[in-house]
Amino acid sequence: MIKLLTIIGARPQIIKAAAISRAIQGLYADEISEILVHTGQHYDQNMSEVFFNELNIPQPDYNLGIGSMHPAVQTAKMIDAIFGVLEKEEPNWLLVYGDTNSTLAGSLAANKAEIPLIHIEAGLRSYNKSMPEENNRIVADHFSTLLFCPTQTAEENLRKEGFFINTIPEFHIDRPGIFNCGDVMYDNSKFFGDLAENKQSLLEKNSLKENQFIFFTCHRPVNTDVKENLSSIFRACLQLADRGEEIFMPLHPRTIKALEQRAPAILEELNSHENIVVHPPVSFLEISLLEKKCKMVITDSGGVQKEAFFFKKPCLVLRDETEWVELVESGSAILVGANTEKIVEQFEVLMSKTLSFPQIFGRGNAAEIICERILESS
Ligand code: UD1
Ligand code: UDP
Repeated sequence: MIKLLTIIGARPQIIKAAAISRAIQGLYADEISEILVHTGQHYDQNMSEVFFNELNIPQPDYNLGIGSMHPAVQTAKMIDAIFGVLEKEEPNWLLVYGDTNSTLAGSLAANKAEIPLIHIEAGLRSYNKSMPEENNRIVADHFSTLLFCPTQTAEENLRKEGFFINTIPEFHIDRPGIFNCGDVMYDNSKFFGDLAENKQSLLEKNSLKENQFIFFTCHRPVNTDVKENLSSIFRACLQLADRGEEIFMPLHPRTIKALEQRAPAILEELNSHENIVVHPPVSFLEISLLEKKCKMVITDSGGVQKEAFFFKKPCLVLRDETEWVELVESGSAILVGANTEKIVEQFEVLMSKTLSFPQIFGRGNAAEIICERILESS
């Protein structure tokens, strides 16, 4: 039996963990035992707990309870606490997802404890090191023994960085195994997409009609913590709403706090606008339904950009670059940064385009491929 210790902490990692946990429970329960460790990076009910029941993720074996604080202190506390669990559990592998501070802490703790590391969502690059995520993912990749890339581009990025693409064991940190397995989030959107239809009451409650509303999210520090960007993005929403567009926006706690502190007048306008619904974070089934039924997605989220693509929706990306370059290359997503005029103008451009959605993210069986490769490599 292989003992796999998985680190989760932020919302997207909890959701990603559903795919691997589902594969282990359904297909590999006799071969892989998974220990879930939640760092506590996200802790509000609607940022964490809501996903466990809805997505059938086992309750974490450990919750380290490390909440919001300066990223340096947060990462240090996480490393310390994860190391304690590693000493106790002595797993064969430590698995991290994505690019958050929990990912970084897990990667460093595994390295120092000499436990081989697995990185899911390896090889992504925005080539913008002012984003904490870019630094976190680079460390995770370079400390890993198994790297699972969601796309061909991700594998190419690793090659450009000097990795040799080994696919035959034995693997170790100096000779890691690298696999383009597809995206576990595509697995999830395929698996949960139909179940999301059960959440129709959210649409009814908010008077949202199919293909008649914009779905909006925003939470990147560059957009929330820089006052001009924050104002510029939400001014664009107000302009679109003034033109009659309906907008549903479940806002990350970071964004609500930023609006309250840096742009209270705009928040008041958003709250009182008849075409805008400002809403707390929603569950994964609810967001999946909103993404399926909207006419356009506007977001700076990595995960939401891709889900727009999975559900064949146009997407305006509130960033100047993206690690998911294929979305922009396909023409279904446009980078608009935090520029009011560009957001409003490109909304019209994208609405009038005929879009195509090629198969870029695998076949919806990434989790199964990952489990197979872990078993082969153990
Ligand atoms: C983190 C990740 C980011 C990811 C995002 C997903 C890092 C560096 N960033 O950003 O890559 O896209 O999660 O959502 O790890 N807060 C609450 N309740 C919570 C969690 C957070 O109120 O349950 C508030 C706190 O004020 C906190 C702020 O949100 O200071 C930011 O949280 P944090 O986890 O530091 O970063 P995110 O912006 O969520
Ligand atoms: N998500 C959710 N409810 C929300 C907003 C996002 O369930 O109100 C999901 C979303 O569908 C995606 C993941 O959270 O699967 C993305 O997380 P987020 O946007 O917080 O982070 P990122 O992907 O940018 O790291």
